[in-house]
Amino acid sequence: MPLSREEEEALNDHFLVNSYVEGFTTSQADAVLFYHFKSTPSQDLHNLHRWYKHIASFGSDISKFAGHKRNNLTLSLNGKKITIAMENNSEKQINGEEGTEQQEQKTAEDIVDPWNVQASSNKGIDYDKLIDRFGSSRIDDTLLERFEKLTGQKPHHFLRRGIFFSHRDMHRILNLIEAGKKFFLYTGRGPSSEAMHLGHLIPFLLTKWLQDAFDVPLIIQLTDDEKYLWKDLKLEQCNKLAYENVKDIIAVGFDMNKTFIFSDIDFLGGEFYKNILRVQKHVTFNQVKGIFGFDESSNIGKIMFPAIQAVPSFSSSFPFIFGEKKDIPCLIPCAIDQDPYFRMTRDVAPRIGFQKPALIHSTFFPALQGASSKMSSSDENSSIFLTDTANQIKKKINKYAFSGGKDTLEEHRELGGDCEIDVSYMYLKFFMEDDSRLEEIRQQYSSGKMLTGELKAELIKILQKLIAEHQERRKVVTDDTVKQYMTPRALNFTIQK
Ligand code: TYM
Repeated sequence: MPLSREEEEALNDHFLVNSYVEGFTTSQADAVLFYHFKSTPSQDLHNLHRWYKHIASFGSDISKFAGHKRNNLTLSLNGKKITIAMENNSEKQINGEEGTEQQEQKTAEDIVDPWNVQASSNKGIDYDKLIDRFGSSRIDDTLLERFEKLTGQKPHHFLRRGIFFSHRDMHRILNLIEAGKKFFLYTGRGPSSEAMHLGHLIPFLLTKWLQDAFDVPLIIQLTDDEKYLWKDLKLEQCNKLAYENVKDIIAVGFDMNKTFIFSDIDFLGGEFYKNILRVQKHVTFNQVKGIFGFDESSNIGKIMFPAIQAVPSFSSSFPFIFGEKKDIPCLIPCAIDQDPYFRMTRDVAPRIGFQKPALIHSTFFPALQGASSKMSSSDENSSIFLTDTANQIKKKINKYAFSGGKDTLEEHRELGGDCEIDVSYMYLKFFMEDDSRLEEIRQQYSSGKMLTGELKAELIKILQKLIAEHQERRKVVTDDTVKQYMTPRALNFTIQK
C-alpha cells in the first residue's frame, strides 16, 4: 500500500531533524523505506526527497546496511503508527527504470558543487530548482521584512534583489537577535590564485554588512590545505596564497576587534582538531561519496577534508574566543556551491552534541561570457580580478561581456535588449546600489532606448571605482595588520545567553 500524503509529510518532518530512519547511521530500516517507494518522493517534501537521494547514492550497498533484513517497518511519527511494507522494487530502484529516469534527470540538471558550476541551459543556473534539490528555503518577503525590522535599515541590496536567494534556519538566527542574543558569523576562502575576482567578493560583502548590522564576531577560514589537495600546487605555494588573499579579505573592512582569520595549514590543532576528529568519526566514506562524489581513486586527504571545513561552525573549536560557551549558534554566508559541506555539517552536528549552523546562500556572479558558468579564477578572460587596472576592466567588459543587445542598431532600437541574458546588466544588479537608476537602465535598455555600449560604459565606471577603492584599502594592509587579524585571541563582543 503506498503511503498517504499525510504519512509522507510525517516522514518529511522526521527527516528534518534526523538523518536516517533509526539512529545515527544507515540501517535496514532505511532499506525498507527506500524500497517501499516506487519512485523518488515529491520534491516539495524536501527532507524526505533529500534522504531518498542520499540513500539512492549507496547503490547496491543498500543491501549491506547494518541490521537484520526485514520486509516491514513500523514507525511512530507525529503520534501515529505507520506501517511500511517493503515493495518488490529492489532491482528496479537501483538498476531498472528508476535508475534510467534518475540518470536522464541528472543530464538535464545544473551541476553545482564546490568544484564545478555549470548550467544545463544558456539561461544560467535554475536557482528555484536548486532550492528544491538541495532542500533549502527561499529568502522571501517575510524574511526580508524581519531583517528590516531588526536592523532598522533596508536589507542589503544583495538580499533585496535576490542575489542572496536561499537559506537554512535563518529564522532561528533572527529569533535569537529578536531575543537580544547573539550568534557568530563564519565564512571562508580557498586560496588557489594570487588575485581574487569580483565573484569572491560577494559573500564577503554580505558578511561585512551582517557583521556591522548585528555587531557579531566573525571567523574566516583560509583552506590552503583544500587547495593543496585539489590543485596542482605546492603546499608552500597554497600557504603563501592564503597570506596574499587575506589582504584582499581584510580590505573589505571587517572589524579587527571582532574578526579572527586563520590558515588551516598553520592553525590545525587543539580543540579545533578535536572537533575534526569528532566529525570524522561520525561520517562514513559512503556518505562523503554520496555528498561530494568521491570515489576509490580520490586521495585520502580529500575524503577527510570536509570535516575541516565543517568545524569552524562550532563555537567550541575556538576556546580563546568563546571560552566555555560551546553552543553559540553560527551563520554562514557563502555562494550555494559550498552548501554540500554544510549539509554534511548539519547532518553530523546534532550527533556530536553541537548546533546545526544556519546558512545564507548567494547566486553566482557570472563569467563575462554568460550566466551558464560562474566567474572563475582558472579562466582569466572570464574574470575581473581585484588587481585589474582601470584599463583592463574597460577592455574586458567591452570585449568579453556577453551582450543581450540586438545585432543591428535598427533592430535594437525596435526590439530592445534582453536584460535576462546581458552580463553587463547582471553585473550592475550586483554592484549598482541605486535602485531607481538600475530600474531606469532596465527600462531604457529593454525598450531599445539605451545601447549596449552605453550600458557597458555605465558598468565600467562603477567597477573601476569599486576596484580602485578596494586597491587603495588593500595597499594599507601591512604584514603587521595581517598578523593582528590572524593571531588567536579574545575578540571584543558580548554574548548574552
Ligand atoms: P572559494 O575560494 O572557492 O570561494 C570563496 C567564496 O566565494 C564564493 N564564490 C562565489 N560567489 C559568487 N560568485 C562566484 N562566481 C563565486 N565564486 C566563489 C564561494 O561560495 C565562497 O563563499 N572551500 C571554500 C573556502 C571556505 C568557505 C568556508 C567558504 C572554507 N570555509 C565557509 C564559505 C564558507 C572555497 O574554496 O571557497
